[in-house]
Amino acid sequence: MTDDELFLTAILDCSRSDLYLHPRSLTEAEQARLDLLRLRRKAGEPVQYLTGFTEFYGYRFDVGPGVLIPRPETEVLADELIRMLKASSRQDVRILDVGTGSGCLAVTLARELPESRVTAIDVSREALAYARRNSILNGTSDRVACMERDMFWFLDETPERFDAVVSNPPYIPASALESLPADVRHEPELALDGGPDGLHFYRFLVSAARRVLVPGGVLAVEFGDGQAKELQNLFAITGPWDKINIYHDNAGKPRGITARIIL
Ligand SMILES: C[S@@+](CC[C@H](N)C(=O)[O-])C[C@H]1O[C@@H](n2cnc3c(N)ncnc32)[C@H](O)[C@@H]1O
Repeated sequence: MTDDELFLTAILDCSRSDLYLHPRSLTEAEQARLDLLRLRRKAGEPVQYLTGFTEFYGYRFDVGPGVLIPRPETEVLADELIRMLKASSRQDVRILDVGTGSGCLAVTLARELPESRVTAIDVSREALAYARRNSILNGTSDRVACMERDMFWFLDETPERFDAVVSNPPYIPASALESLPADVRHEPELALDGGPDGLHFYRFLVSAARRVLVPGGVLAVEFGDGQAKELQNLFAITGPWDKINIYHDNAGKPRGITARIIL
């Protein structure tokens, strides 16, 4: 959809086809809202912040300033993990989503694996408010526990054990933050800044996930452009990981890695 189509469907609460099948002129208030949205868009605000929602894996997620907008490439991470967990003998799996943001992974996994239970942690209170709201919106709040926790504390301290740990952590090298496109710079730095080389969170996650996974449990993480080799090395030296697999996004780029823990 074009920006105007998105704005109009949001203002008129209708579908794109309704805009053309049942056209009507805007009231003064609706026109004023459209003008304001166009202005904010021109100033670089992401279109999803302006409409207040986006789609992920066919589900609706509310978003706004303070939370990362779910990306299509992260749908591939959800897909990989769903496929792996569906192939396992147990369906009542326990999943930990680290840095849940809008809750897109936690909620999608809970919807697609109806007997699963998901713990979704994030250090950002604003992001968690969206995750909770999205979990309620999508009918998963009885199986998704959203908790305000710092991963560096939680993974070291929790007595819980999980069948899978999933994460799309911040992975942009700090020096590249300033050259990001204008709309991405409206998103929270906390969701983007991966430290000096972008790998800060992976160094911790690949090592700490071993403590919270059950034997044979899966770690699945998304990574950024050009990080495949470093991630592969990190898993290789942090073992004991088995079945290390790099998957590709829909553009054919290496985009994430899955591995099983041998204990
Ligand atoms: C790249 S965003 C991913 C959000 C969501 N999972 C997605 O895929 O759209 C990374 C998330 O990690 C969270 N985060 C950053 N540092 C964290 C920490 N130390 N502990 C827990 N979450 C953290 C951020 O607040 C952000 O929501």
